[in-house]
Amino acid sequence: PNLKMNEHGGSSLTNVHCRAKGGSPGFKVAILGAAGGIGQPLSMLMKINPLVSVLHLYDVVNTPGVTSDISHMDTSAVVRGFLGQNQLEDALTGMDLVIIPAGVPRKPGMTRDDLFNINAGIVKTLCEAIAKQCPKAIVNLISNPVNSTVPIAAEVFKRAGTYDPKRLLGVTMLDVVRANTFVAEVMGLDPRDVDVPVVGGHAGITILPLLSQVKPPSSFTPKEIEYLTDRIQNGGTEVVEAKAGAGSATLSMAYAAVKFADACLRALKGEADIVQCAYVDSQVTELPFFASKVRLGRNGVEEFLPLGPLSDYERASLEKAKKELATSVEKGVSFIRK
Ligand code: NAI
Repeated sequence: PNLKMNEHGGSSLTNVHCRAKGGSPGFKVAILGAAGGIGQPLSMLMKINPLVSVLHLYDVVNTPGVTSDISHMDTSAVVRGFLGQNQLEDALTGMDLVIIPAGVPRKPGMTRDDLFNINAGIVKTLCEAIAKQCPKAIVNLISNPVNSTVPIAAEVFKRAGTYDPKRLLGVTMLDVVRANTFVAEVMGLDPRDVDVPVVGGHAGITILPLLSQVKPPSSFTPKEIEYLTDRIQNGGTEVVEAKAGAGSATLSMAYAAVKFADACLRALKGEADIVQCAYVDSQVTELPFFASKVRLGRNGVEEFLPLGPLSDYERASLEKAKKELATSVEKGVSFIRK
């Protein structure tokens, strides 16, 4: 039979006319880096999300296969694939939410900052296209080092004259997911009942779990605090080492990315009281970018929640985190300005 690519990226018989659907209400979401370790499970999970009506999958390799595969899932989102840079702008046209897991991941022995040289350029290119095609979209940036790639994205948007700090969010949800899991383990609780605020940034000592503010209220011994803080800060490295060269967290990250994207979409839809931690252009500290709890609404970040009372241990850790964060922000900003 005569096969051609249909809009789902799959092949179809050309002599069969498919009737147009009524068009399901919902949001248009693009995933950039959709064929990667995070991108594939993330694309699959977003295809299941009932708030998504159109799902655009973009990558520089392998999107036809991923798109064809995912498009066979019997959920309502319409899936379209886009391959290579000359399809990037089409992938972004009219999107409400853009999720970016594009770029290289860590190998054992690497820090997130070691990824800077490659990923900075990728994020710059992708954000230039976002500024052009969907300047009002909410952007969820996953590519590492997040502490620097979010300032890079902000600079690109400023240059293009489209920067809206409320709409650019660095995804630190995996740190929260890990913190909830590890704290629940120590406390003997169901992780779904645990809420740990994680502030600062998304690398090493900049990841600062506020164990003094855990819900339900819990008290920890100094030994537990040290164990938990260390495990949460190094959760990513734990996975990198276990994967032994095959990459970093992808499945738990896809889960965390979907949890975060779903919160953004529910807020876009007008649901009230959506509060999540994210790394954003911030007024909470003197730093230009900082991760903390923010209230999300129809326009992205609507309110910064205060850091709240910190323990002595957290106050000291915050000072150390701020020093490293300032350097990472500066590195991102100067990448674009120089
Ligand atoms: P991967 O290498 O499996 O996938 C990355 C994908 O990006 C590949 O399919 C690749 O073709 C694509 N890509 C490369 N250049 C591109 C471009 N110019 N435009 C579009 N796509 C492009 O890597 P993985 O494991 O999916 O990780 C992706 C990123 O996410 C890494 O930077 C990693 O460090 C980061 N990450 C962030 C986390 C967070 O908590 N924010 C957690 C885990 C990973």
